[in-house]
Order: sequence, then C-alpha cells, then structure tokens
Amino acid sequence: MNKLNYENKTFHIQTFGCQMNEHDSEIIAGILIEKGCKKVEDISKADIAIINTCSIRENADKRFFGTLGQLKKLKEKNSDFVSCVCGCMMQQKHIIDEIKNRYRWVDLIFGTHNIHEFSDLIDKTINEREKLVSIWKGGGEVVEGLPVKRQFPFRGLVNIMYGCNNFCTYCIVPYTRGRERSRRPKEIIKEVEALVKDGVKEVILLGQNVNSYGLSKHRGGYSIENGDMDFADLIYALNDIDGLERLKFMTSHPKDLSDKLIEAYRDCKTLGKTIHLPVQSGSNNVLERMRRKYTREKYLGLVEKLRKVIPDIAITTDIIVGFPGETEEDFQDTLALVEQVQFDSAFTFMYSIRKGTPAEKFTDQIPENIKHERFDRLLTLVNKISEERNKTFQDTVQKVLVEGESSNKKNKGMLIGRTESGRLVSFSGSVDLVGKIVDVKIIEARQFNLIGKLV
Ligand code: 5AD
Ligand code: SF4
Repeated sequence: MNKLNYENKTFHIQTFGCQMNEHDSEIIAGILIEKGCKKVEDISKADIAIINTCSIRENADKRFFGTLGQLKKLKEKNSDFVSCVCGCMMQQKHIIDEIKNRYRWVDLIFGTHNIHEFSDLIDKTINEREKLVSIWKGGGEVVEGLPVKRQFPFRGLVNIMYGCNNFCTYCIVPYTRGRERSRRPKEIIKEVEALVKDGVKEVILLGQNVNSYGLSKHRGGYSIENGDMDFADLIYALNDIDGLERLKFMTSHPKDLSDKLIEAYRDCKTLGKTIHLPVQSGSNNVLERMRRKYTREKYLGLVEKLRKVIPDIAITTDIIVGFPGETEEDFQDTLALVEQVQFDSAFTFMYSIRKGTPAEKFTDQIPENIKHERFDRLLTLVNKISEERNKTFQDTVQKVLVEGESSNKKNKGMLIGRTESGRLVSFSGSVDLVGKIVDVKIIEARQFNLIGKLV
C-alpha cells in the first residue's frame, strides 16, 4: 500500500461502550496514524469515520443507529467520505443484515476479532472503492505488536485477556467477544515497560474477567501450568517496574477473586486503593438465575476481606434491576446489600433483553414501569451513599493524577484529576500539571465529585 494515499486524510473515531472498546479505538487510531492520517475531533471535518460499537444494552443499539444517520449526510456531501463500523454489535448477524439493508452508505464493517486486519481492509476500501464486510466468528490467536495511539499520554490501557467464558444469562459479551484467551505475561510486562518509558504513569489492565487470567485453555492463548504466573503474580511483577506509579484493573468477577490478589493490595504500592466488583443483584434467587456462580453471602465475605486488608479501599459495582422474575423482595435484598456494603459508586442498569442470550427466553420479564420505579429507588440510595462516602474526604490531602482541563462549564478554567481511589477532583492549577501526580487538599465534597486546592 502506498502511504501517500493517506496523506492529508483525516479521521474521526466515535467510541461507544467500555474501556476495552476505548482501547480497540486506540489501536485503530494507531494504525491510521502510521499510514499518515491525522485525527480530528469534529466528524464533519473527517475523510474517514469509524464508529466503534457496543452491544451490552439496548440503548447502546439505539444510539448507534442514530449515529449512522449522521454518516449518511456526510456521504451525501462528499462521495469520497469513507464510513466504517466495527466492534461488538457487528458480531451479531441480525445487525449486519440491518446495516446492509437499511444503511447502504456504510463502506466497511469489521468485528472484534479482526482489528489487526483493519490496515488491509481500509486500504482495500479506499483503493478499490469496494464495500467490505469482514467478520471473524471466533477469537483466533492473540495478535501482538499492533500500533496504539493513546487517548491520554499518561494512561496506558493494556489488554491482558480477551473474551469471557461465564455466560451470565443476561449478557451478550461471550457471544460478541468470544472465548477467554489470555496474553502471555512476558508480552504484557514488555508492553508495560515500554509504556512507562514513554511517560505513562497509570496502567489499567483490561479483561472481561481479569481474575480468571490464564485459567482457561484456549488454542493460542496463555494458560497456567505448574507454577506459571497467575493474575496476582502478574500484578506483583508489574508493580516492580520502575517508574510505574499507578496500576488498576477491570473487571473483576467475584467468583474468582483470590485471597492472593487481596494480599497484593497490601504489598504493591502501585495498586490503587480501588476495586470494581460487579454484584449485579443482592438476591440469591436472582444471582442464580443470572448464573453468577456466587451468593450474596460470598460477595459480602469478599467485601469484608478486602476492607480488612485495605480499610479505605473504594469498592464500586454494577447492578441490574428488573431482571426476569425479580420480585419486590428480591429487589429489597439488593437495596439492603447496597446499604450494607456502602459502595463508593455504582453503575445501575435496567435489564434489557439481548438477542440470543438465555434470559431472552425467560417468560417472567418485568414490566417497564416496575423496572423504572426500582431503578429510581436504587439510584436515590446509591447517590446518597456516594455523597456520604465523598464527604469522608473533606479536608484530607489526596494524591491526584491530573487528567486535563475540566469540560464542565461550572468549573471553567479548572483542572480535573483522579485520586488513588478513582474519585474525580476539580481544582485550580496550570495546564503544565496535566499528566503529573500532585497533592490536592479537598475543600468541598459534592455528590459526584470533589473540589480541592493544590497544596
Ligand atoms: N441488561 C442490563 N444491563 C446489562 N449489563 C450487561 N448486560 C446487561 C443487560 N442485558 C450490565 C452489567 C455489566 C455491565 C457492564 O452492564 O451490570 O456488569
Ligand atoms: Fe458478561 Fe458475565 Fe462475562 Fe461479565 S462475566 S462479560 S457479565 S458474561
């Protein structure tokens, strides 16, 4: 491919969904920048647009189809405009059919398993003016060494595993991201070392279920055999890398959170005092029908162990309300668990049917009005607790990694950053501080963020 073809071309990426998708977009950007393209923030100024989709809940689908309408207008204005769609939604056949039938202006469709092919696919689309659909059904070998253009120079997102074997009955991810495959520890360590050399302060290890790192045997993936590194060992090894300041990971599944990993929090100074541990429901009936493979009691036991080792750890979670068959009593169990655990924050969702998952076929779906009503009650409680937890930070001094200038109009001219436990802090300071870790005294605790001043 002649590199010249891409010079003066611009691209824009819109990313929906989780950090895994954010990272896939960083790889897509890396590939285009290597070809000579320039990234633009305004889609109407782009020659190439990529929409990286999420399939996790119904409203993600709706937003995506809304965005496709925007691409049509750009194509009408400029016939050379190239529109690409990729990501989790594309791993579903009914979505591809719908795009092919109703959104004919889309030029290139690819999936979650063949991002490494994007370089060739986009060449073909542009040079041969061909419409292409390239979807791989399952995840193949783990591909190493793809270029990455980081969204933040100081933060490195690092995949340690792909896919999920859990098949929670509501979840589409095992179908769109395939079976679990882990990367080899030596490749991960090499990548983190290179990131730190390149100025990265904070590394976030990514996987749908990082606690089962190396546990499954998948062709081409890493699997632990007698004494090889498990996830906790990997944390210890990364913690030793000189210059790495903060290490985080997501997402942890409660069913295989080990004592060894909990101890790593005590031993590893880089490990931020925070864990995202999705509970989904506080009712054992619902947990069983969700196929979560733990009980409410087991979850509460994990929280207790975590707080024993790291008393001020921030625990965040995901909760679904209105799962099929959820009774008012089940929901009360969720409220009681939230009250008991005192989550620092919680992402709350109304259950939405995902095509092809077991829960789609459950006959006891909950009416929308009840889902909404439970959602509102849960959110009120979650927000009240978050605010109370935030208040405990009043007058403390926190180490804050400065992320950039605040985009909130109310905080115009202020910087924003995150504490070790992941809380958002706004404070006045010079933009030179972006990417640095600074001491900030908390002078006001609000519901969703903290206000501070540099000390
Ligand atoms: N409906 C509602 N929420 C869902 N999640 C996953 N699938 C669904 C669904 N079908 C939520 C879970 C998960 C988070 C990423 O999204 O809480 O942890
Ligand atoms: Fe989905 Fe469950 Fe896998 Fe998480 S663990 S990605 S909720 S199937």
